[in-house]
This record gives sequence, structure tokens and C-alpha cells, in this order.
Amino acid sequence: MTAPLDETVLRGALGRFASGVTVVTTVLDGVDHAMTASAFTSVSLDPPQVLVCSQRSSRFHEAVTESGIWGVSILSDRGRAASAWFAHSGRQLEGQFDDVPHHRGALGVPLLDASLAWLECRTISVHDGGTHTILVGEVTWAGVQEGDDDPLLYYRSHYGTIVRSPESEKTFYESGEA
Ligand SMILES: Cc1cc2nc3c(=O)[nH]c(=O)nc-3n(C[C@H](O)[C@H](O)[C@H](O)COP(=O)(O)O)c2cc1C
Repeated sequence: MTAPLDETVLRGALGRFASGVTVVTTVLDGVDHAMTASAFTSVSLDPPQVLVCSQRSSRFHEAVTESGIWGVSILSDRGRAASAWFAHSGRQLEGQFDDVPHHRGALGVPLLDASLAWLECRTISVHDGGTHTILVGEVTWAGVQEGDDDPLLYYRSHYGTIVRSPESEKTFYESGEA
């Protein structure tokens, strides 16, 4: 018989999955909404689809499920302060972008300057994810920031960035036959 699932161990296990950090944004009735999110995943290249998991209790959740459009800013290491800010619950929505350099995409959503890349999405399906909702979006636009190449990473509640090894360009196993 296996032991019951221990919630503390579960949190510890999931926290050991290192991730990048995004800020997802939307606009509803002229009001900007944003939320720091690491539960972001690429789904498909053709058709172009990504997903993000949004906590039901967040204000962002309420806004994005109504607006149906969202931006994803994949943060660079320069985005640490912005990540902490948009994860700070209870911050005032009004003026929350005043001190955060950003621009706007074709869908009108804010995209943070301290990013390596940006996506704009339209929600194509929503799925129940327990405390969260899984939003799958069609990517309508993507852009990359050339020159900036240090990602913001999150691991066990700490921020960091990558240390490149000399072999860092090799993402596939090479047999040495070539
Ligand atoms: C590094 C990091 C990653 C996070 N990832 C997510 C996530 O993927 N989904 C989510 O719903 N909340 C995530 N959160 C928590 C939200 O950012 C936080 O609840 C935020 O205050 C929601 O803002 P809102 O209530 O104004 O919408 C994350 C927080 C941090 C610090």
C-alpha cells in the first residue's frame, strides 16, 4: 500500500521544477490586468498554440476569461522587480503599469520591455484545472528582443538566471557518427 500524498512534499517536489517566468496581461473595459505566471507552456507550433494556468481566485482570471485576449511577456533577468510586483496580491490595479516600462501589441494588451520575447493570444479553449483554469490560446503574434539573452528563472521560490556550460548549444544527443 502506498502512503497518502503529503501536501508539503508535493509542494516541495513541484518547486524543484525550474521554470522561466512570464507576465500575462489583458485589457477589459479599458483596465489593464496582469499576473506573474510560471505555469506557461508551448503546446503546438502548427497550429500555433500555448497555454497558461490561471488561479480562479485571481483578478486576472476574472478579466481574461471575459476578454478572451492575452499577452505573454517572457521575462529577462531584468524583469525580477516586475515579476515580484505582478505577483503581489492586493496591489492597486489603477496605475499598476505606471512604473513598469511597456508597450502595446496589436491586441492592445501591455507587453513588458524587460522581456526576451512576447506573444499575443486569443483564447480558443478553457479547461478545468482544479484551483486553476487552463487557458489555451491561439498565438496571433510573436516577437523576440534581439540582444538580451539572459532569462529570468524561478526555482524553489528563488529567482536566478542561467549559467551556460561550454556545451550549452547541444540540446540533442549526438552519437558522434557524423
Ligand atoms: C514566480 C511566480 C510564478 C507564478 N505563477 C503563477 C501561475 O502560473 N498561475 C497563477 O495563477 N498564479 C501564479 N503566481 C501567483 C500570481 O502571480 C499572484 O496570485 C498574483 O497576485 C495574481 O494577481 P491578481 O490577483 O491581481 O490577478 C505566480 C507567482 C510567482 C511569484
